[in-house]
Amino acid sequence: MTQYSKRMVIVHWLTLALLIAAWFLGDAVNEARHEGNATLMGYAVHAVVGGTILLLTILRLYFRSKDGVPPPVGQSLMDKVAKGIHHALYALLILLPVSGIMQVATSKVCDALRAWDATLLPAKFEGVPAHGVHEILVTALIVLGVVHVLGAIKHQFIMKDGLMERMSLRRKD
Ligand code: HEM
Ligand code: HEM
Repeated sequence: MTQYSKRMVIVHWLTLALLIAAWFLGDAVNEARHEGNATLMGYAVHAVVGGTILLLTILRLYFRSKDGVPPPVGQSLMDKVAKGIHHALYALLILLPVSGIMQVATSKVCDALRAWDATLLPAKFEGVPAHGVHEILVTALIVLGVVHVLGAIKHQFIMKDGLMERMSLRRKD
């Protein structure tokens, strides 16, 4: 096995697309709240996209356990760091949506969504620890995501070892 299975590849790139959408939607909701015009639909759509990422990640870990992964590219320190970053990314793909769900569940957003009444939406998230946790985890995901992409670029353009093919739908055999 020299490549990730097709379904692992599809979920990897689908997760990237959904992450970009969730990031923009989350920022838009945050901005709208500060301007006093947040909408229920804004929160709902962000929650659905973020929740889909959680479900996809659980599915992905199941696929991973069934399909396996290609052997490590090497045994250097950088290869071990890259593997550690993969594990941390998986942890974030679970913890970030969970903190989002906690944020809704422990704030007035939950009441507003249940009553479908935008006047109940909170102006501030005071006394909601999950709000700060969600923001910190977003930053952590961006930092690790950037390091991960820089690693992929290094393999592609400096080391030229064809690592990207492992995460490609084009099959070698
Ligand atoms: C991987 C998935 C997710 C990503 C990448 C993400 C990203 C974001 C971002 C970038 C923000 C804005 C933070 C800021 O500008 O300070 C945000 C806010 C928020 N997110 Fe998420 N989120 C995800 C999942 C979820 C889920 C599943 C829920 C709820 C079920 C959720 C609920 C919220 C809420 C309530 C806010 C606060 C918006 C506000 O400030 O009014 N998020 N998220
Ligand atoms: C343009 C953006 C991206 C590129 C070019 C890229 C590329 C790759 C490549 C080539 C691999 C295979 C590495 C190997 O075989 O050692 C990989 C694996 C992985 N990527 Fe990405 N990636 C990107 C974005 C992301 C994002 C945003 C996330 C998640 C937040 C992510 C999470 C992962 C994980 C968890 C693995 C490990 C898969 C496993 O072993 O189960 N990637 N990526």
